[in-house]
Amino acid sequence: MHRIIKEKLPRHIAVIMDGNGRWAKKNMLKRGMGHEKGAESVRTVVKTCRELGIPYLTLYAFSVENWQRPKNEVRALISLLETYLRTELGAMKETGIRLFTIGDADSFPKTLMDLLSRAKEETSENSGMVLTLALSYGGRDEIIRAVNNILRDSKSSNIGEKMITKDFFSHYLYTANIPDPDLLIRTSGEYRLSNFLLWQMAYTELYFTDTLWPDFSRDDMIEAIVDYQRRERRFGLISDQLPKD
Ligand code: IPE
Ligand code: IPE
Ligand code: MG
Repeated sequence: MHRIIKEKLPRHIAVIMDGNGRWAKKNMLKRGMGHEKGAESVRTVVKTCRELGIPYLTLYAFSVENWQRPKNEVRALISLLETYLRTELGAMKETGIRLFTIGDADSFPKTLMDLLSRAKEETSENSGMVLTLALSYGGRDEIIRAVNNILRDSKSSNIGEKMITKDFFSHYLYTANIPDPDLLIRTSGEYRLSNFLLWQMAYTELYFTDTLWPDFSRDDMIEAIVDYQRRERRFGLISDQLPKD
């Protein structure tokens, strides 16, 4: 913890929580148990980020592609999300966490949708940290949705060709009110983005670890942040052009 430079904290950390299934297999358990243990890691990571004072944490909990998994696994994931919301709402309120979602959450069963609406509503005044859950999320789907919404709006307002700037476009994404991630963490030794925040990650620092998500601890989160703080973010410039810190 003392290795972290308070002034250089990432403003937004995004996480691809991967490896629940392999963790279960390694421990000779059913995949569902891996997801359950993974939910424990979610609790730990949320708590750690809140304590450190990270303003935005985004967790990839369910991709649009994940709908194609076996039905019982999809059901188990949904029920685990429901349990998570039921058990964590109190803690979110106490610790000043605001819940937000990105993705096509309307595709979930009503029980989950209601729990999400309630949790979002009841935490909407909180300003400690924005916890965003990516649910039924896909980066390409998000971009296509933005294009379609711009087309729709262009019918009732005069949106001209030149008006579509990066900023303008960003406002049509699910993440309109969230800054781009500074740090992406992916667990389980996979080196890919799996359709996560494609537009937003243009200049995100990527951190990959072999640790499986259910084993990801507070120390692992601290390690990822320390690693991030050692990097030089040049955004296309050369070192000499960057502000000295
Ligand atoms: C991540 O773990 C959880 C979700 C994708 C919802 P996985 O279920 O993908 O675990 P592996 O990749 O099979 O080990
Ligand atoms: C990415 O993990 C999605 C989530 C963590 C929710 P996957 O396990 O679905 O990704 P792939 O299939 O290995 O790329
Ligand atoms: Mg996986």
